[in-house]
Amino acid sequence: MTVGELELEEPVRIDASKVMAILQRDHQRLGAVLERVEHELGARRDLQALCADAASHGRLLGMLAFLHEYADRIHHPLETRLFDRLIEKGLTPSERRVVFVTMSQHEEILGDLLGLQEELRRLQGQAPRELAAALRTRAERYLDAQKRHLHFEDSQLLPLIFARLTARDWCEMERDLAAQIGIIAESCEREFLPAFRAILEAA
Ligand SMILES: [Fe+2]
Ligand SMILES: [Fe+2]
Repeated sequence: MTVGELELEEPVRIDASKVMAILQRDHQRLGAVLERVEHELGARRDLQALCADAASHGRLLGMLAFLHEYADRIHHPLETRLFDRLIEKGLTPSERRVVFVTMSQHEEILGDLLGLQEELRRLQGQAPRELAAALRTRAERYLDAQKRHLHFEDSQLLPLIFARLTARDWCEMERDLAAQIGIIAESCEREFLPAFRAILEAA
């Protein structure tokens, strides 16, 4: 490519529809892995058996690690930039509530997920009956909270971002978002997409 051709290239534009598409794609990926978690748990009502099966136990830990790291490193950093911008907009009380409910759900779900990961690791190989039953309750609570959260964001948060941020906001945030989206694309390609495909393809 010559310098002349480079100069003719359009600069990358970051706008609402581009950012929405990224957030929705993230939600679909997280939702797909949640379905695999449900499937893994559904295949064995008895989590004593799951903990005793190294393959199943390892698959479940891998899925939980994906959910944790993808949300932490890919999805939430982008959402956080949008929250910061939204809060500056002078939201109505009900709009502010949407942002704060989302943020508190993030904390609550992270706590549930960390506890679940820790307990699952602890019960590798063998799980006494009562602890296996408690593990199932914990896993179901996490799944339920995470699914409700994705639905809440899709139905309340994303429309709010779309409605309240203006072309000027997107323009002002463009450089910051472009850098963030670049980091996301690189990490996804290198690290998360192979893990995501492996989870979907696993038995
Ligand atoms: Fe979220
Ligand atoms: Fe989200």
